[in-house]
Amino acid sequence: MKTLVYRIDETNPNPPEMAELGEIIKKGGLVAFPTETVYGLGGDALNPESSKKIYAAKGRPSDNPLIVHIAAWEDIFLLTKEVPEAAKKLAQAFWPGPLTMILKKSDRVPKETTGGLDTVAIRFPSHKVAQELIKASGGFIAAPSANLSGKPSPTIAKYVLEDLDERVDAIIDGGDIPIGLESTIVDLTAEEPMILRPGFITREMLLSVLDQVKTDPTILDASCRERPKAPGMRYRHYAPKGDLSIVEGSPEEVIAYINRAVSNARETERKTGVIATAESAPYYSADLVKSVGSRENSGEVAASLYRILREFDDENVEVIYSESFSSEGLGEAIMNRLLKAAGHKVVRV
Ligand code: TXA
Ligand code: MG
Repeated sequence: MKTLVYRIDETNPNPPEMAELGEIIKKGGLVAFPTETVYGLGGDALNPESSKKIYAAKGRPSDNPLIVHIAAWEDIFLLTKEVPEAAKKLAQAFWPGPLTMILKKSDRVPKETTGGLDTVAIRFPSHKVAQELIKASGGFIAAPSANLSGKPSPTIAKYVLEDLDERVDAIIDGGDIPIGLESTIVDLTAEEPMILRPGFITREMLLSVLDQVKTDPTILDASCRERPKAPGMRYRHYAPKGDLSIVEGSPEEVIAYINRAVSNARETERKTGVIATAESAPYYSADLVKSVGSRENSGEVAASLYRILREFDDENVEVIYSESFSSEGLGEAIMNRLLKAAGHKVVRV
C-alpha cells in the first residue's frame, strides 16, 4: 500500500487536507497522527475491521486493547456504561490532556477495539491536530502508539515512517512531540482508582482531585508476581536492539563504573553507547554518548528518551549503559519506561 504523507502542524491544524484524512478513517483506513504524548496509529474505534487492521499493521497481539480518542468530553457517556464521580473530576481537571481513563464500555464499543475486555480506555488529547482529525472522522479514533510492536513509541515523524511506511494509508507529520511519554492510565472500574501506567499526569496531580489513588503493584516492584492490569504492560516493550543496563549510584561512581564497563565491552569489539545527562556527558568515553538533557529538567528527559533509544538502534550500538533518574513526579514514568527498555537490568555501584 502506498502511504501518503501530510505535513500539518498545530499552528494551522485544520487545512483542507484534514477532511481527506477524516474520510480515510471513515472508510476503514488507518492514519498515523501526532498527539501531545507520542504519535498514534488511528482507525475508526467503532469499526471492528479498523481495529483488526491496527493490530496487523503494528504486529500487535490482539488481546492488547486500544485507547479510544475523543474530541469532546461528553462523548465519554456514549462509550461507557457509567461514569463515576471520580472520572468526571479527572476529566474536568486534566482533559484535554495526557490522561487515559479505563471505564466500563457501552455496547457501541466493539470487543475488537478493547482486546476482548468489557472495559474501554478513553482519552481526550490536547494536540490540536489530533482533535481536528477526530472531528473530521465524524466519530472516535482508536489509536495505539504508532510504532511496530516492541519498539519505542515514536516522538518524531521520521520514526513513524520508518515503522509504518506502506502499512498504513496516511501519516501526518506534525513535527516534534512535546511530552514524549505515553499518557497516564487510571483505572476507574474498581472502588479505588488505580494507576496502571505512570505518565505526565503524576500521582501528586491525581491526588489534587482524588481522595485516594493506588498504583498497580507491578509498576513499583519488578519482582511482583501479579499480572499487570494493563495488558500492554505485560509485554517487554520499548526495547532497543542493544543490550541496555541502568547504573545507579553517586554521579562519580556511575561515571567510573560505566567507563570501565565500556572499555571492557570494546575489548570484545562491540559498539558501545551511554545515555547521559547534560551534566555528565563530557566525562564518558563510549563510541556514542547521548545526553537526554539536564538532570534538573525531567520534562526534557521525558521528551528525548524514546528518540535517543531509537538513535542507538539507528547506529547499531550493541552495549548501552544509562544513568538512573529520580523516581519523583514525572520521574516515575521516566524510570518505568527506562526499566522496561532495560528488561529491569540495574547495576548498583
Ligand atoms: O499517550 C498515549 O496513551 C498514546 C497516544 C497515541 O494516545 N497511546 C498509547 O497506546 O500509548 P498504546 O496502545 O501504545 O498503549 C495503551 C495501553 C496498553 O498498555 C493497553 O494494554 C492499555 O493501554 N489498555 C487499553 N485499554 C485497556 C483496558 N480496557 N484495560 C486496561 N488497560 C488497557
Ligand atoms: Mg505503545
